[in-house]
Amino acid sequence: MGVRPAVKNDILPILKLQVEADGSSIDAEALAPAIDDVTRLVVVAVLDGSVVGWGKTHFWHYADGPAPAGHYLGGVTVTPNLRRRGIGIALTQARLEWIWHRSMDAWYVVNPSNSASIELHRRWGFIEAARAPKFHTTEFTGGVGVLMRAKRHGSTLTGAQIIH
Ligand SMILES: CC(C)(COP(=O)(O)OP(=O)(O)OC[C@H]1O[C@@H](n2cnc3c(N)ncnc32)[C@H](O)[C@@H]1OP(=O)(O)O)[C@@H](O)C(=O)NCCC(=O)NCCS
Repeated sequence: MGVRPAVKNDILPILKLQVEADGSSIDAEALAPAIDDVTRLVVVAVLDGSVVGWGKTHFWHYADGPAPAGHYLGGVTVTPNLRRRGIGIALTQARLEWIWHRSMDAWYVVNPSNSASIELHRRWGFIEAARAPKFHTTEFTGGVGVLMRAKRHGSTLTGAQIIH
């Protein structure tokens, strides 16, 4: 399994993966510009030539209440039958290395009921920064979301670097 920046040919496999994972549809026309955008990173995990996971970052250029401007992890999904094998870690490590080459801080927002996501991100030191019904454009099932923050540490920038 390897992680690499996404290319346009990955969009269809990403759409299929997302439907398989939770039935949701991704806006392909919104994803294409993200792949080309130097302020964001879209990555895919590839196993035996197939896309088995994907994730992205998002750059907010303005603050929204307690949620500052900056680089956010913008979602990660792994194909359901390949979970708990480290693919989520690899996709998140790649995105955090990319963010930490650009910023001291990484952010993400999560539903407090998503324990898989919260446990996954714990290993990079993410801690709760705020709770609110909405951060930027994200609203939450159940009415409240959590803003999480991790700081770059000196030893974090290791291994292969993905340069967009
Ligand atoms: C969250 C998600 C990406 C994790 O992907 P994954 O490939 O299974 O993650 P990994 O195998 O790398 O797991 C790493 C760690 O995350 C945590 N974790 C992952 N799934 C978990 C679960 N269901 N419950 C509790 N902890 C979990 C564990 O700490 C795990 O380490 P361990 O297996 O040694 O216990 C995957 O469950 C998924 O696609 N979920 C649906 C989409 C989603 O909620 N994305 C996050 C939005 S913020």
